[in-house]
Amino acid sequence: MHIVHTIADLRAALADSRSPAFVPTMGNLHDGHLALVRQAKPLGDRLVASIFVNRLQFLPHEDFDSYPRTLQMDADKLRAAGCDLLFAPSEQDLYPEPQTFKIQPDPLLGDILEGQFRPGFFTGVCTVVMKLFAAVFAGKAQGTALFGQKDYQQLMVLRRMVQQFALPVTVVAGPTQRAADGLALSSRNGYLSEAERAEAVQLALALRALGRDALAAAHALPAQRAALEERALQALAARGWQPDYLTVRRRADLQPPQAGDALVVLGAARLGRTRLIDNLEI
Ligand code: PAF
Repeated sequence: MHIVHTIADLRAALADSRSPAFVPTMGNLHDGHLALVRQAKPLGDRLVASIFVNRLQFLPHEDFDSYPRTLQMDADKLRAAGCDLLFAPSEQDLYPEPQTFKIQPDPLLGDILEGQFRPGFFTGVCTVVMKLFAAVFAGKAQGTALFGQKDYQQLMVLRRMVQQFALPVTVVAGPTQRAADGLALSSRNGYLSEAERAEAVQLALALRALGRDALAAAHALPAQRAALEERALQALAARGWQPDYLTVRRRADLQPPQAGDALVVLGAARLGRTRLIDNLEI
C-alpha cells in the first residue's frame, strides 16, 4: 500500500486509474471501516482510503483535539484489508488557507436531527467530502465512494450532494457493523468506561423498542409519534443517558412520516462524555 500526504501526490499515484473506489474516514479504524474497505475492493480499479480528522465538522466544545490519531495502526489495518493507496493529508495539506468556500446542504435535511444538535456539522462534512472527491476523482471516468449506514443522515446528505452537483460518483452504503451485544461499531466507543460499554447497547435496544411501537401504531403513527418518542426518550434518560433525540422518520427525506411511509428510527444520546448515534430501518 502506497501512502501519500498531498493532493498532488495522490493525483500522481492515481494517474493511471479510471475508476477508483474510495473510502473516506477520520481514522481510528474499527471493523466497520474495514468492512467498508473490503466491500469497496471489487468496485473500482484502485482502492483508496483517506484519513483526515476534519476540523470543520467539529463544534468548538467537541472532541476535535482529543479525537484519536492512530495513523500507523490504521495504515497496517488498511494494508491487511487490501487497500492500495492511503491519502493521509495534514491540515496544512488539505486546508493550506482558511476554507472559506463551503458546501451548505439543504436546511430541510441538513439542519434537522444531527444538524440541529451539531449546527454546521453537515456543512463541514460536505465541504471536506467535496474536496476529497475533487482530489480523488478529478478527471476520472467514474468513481465509487462508500459510507457506513450507521451515519444514516450523513449518507443521505452526501447522496443528495452528489446528485445535486451531478458528480460522477456512485455512493454505496455499507451496513452498520455491530459488536456481539448489538452496539453499533464507532470510533467513539473507545471513550466508554467499562461500565458505560456494558450500558451502551441500550441505545440500540431503545431504537428497536421504539421501532416496534411505531409499527404497532402504524395507522395512528402521525398522531401518536410524539408520545412514543417521548416515552423512549424518558426510558433512556431514566437509565442515566442524556438523549438528544429518538425519533421515527420516513426514510425518503427524514421528515415526520405519514401512514404508509417506509420508516427509519434514529437516535443520538450522550452516555457520560460520549455521544453515540444509531439507527434502524423498520
Ligand atoms: O464519517 C466520517 O468518518 C466523516 O464524517 C467523513 C465522511 C470521513 C468526513 O470527514
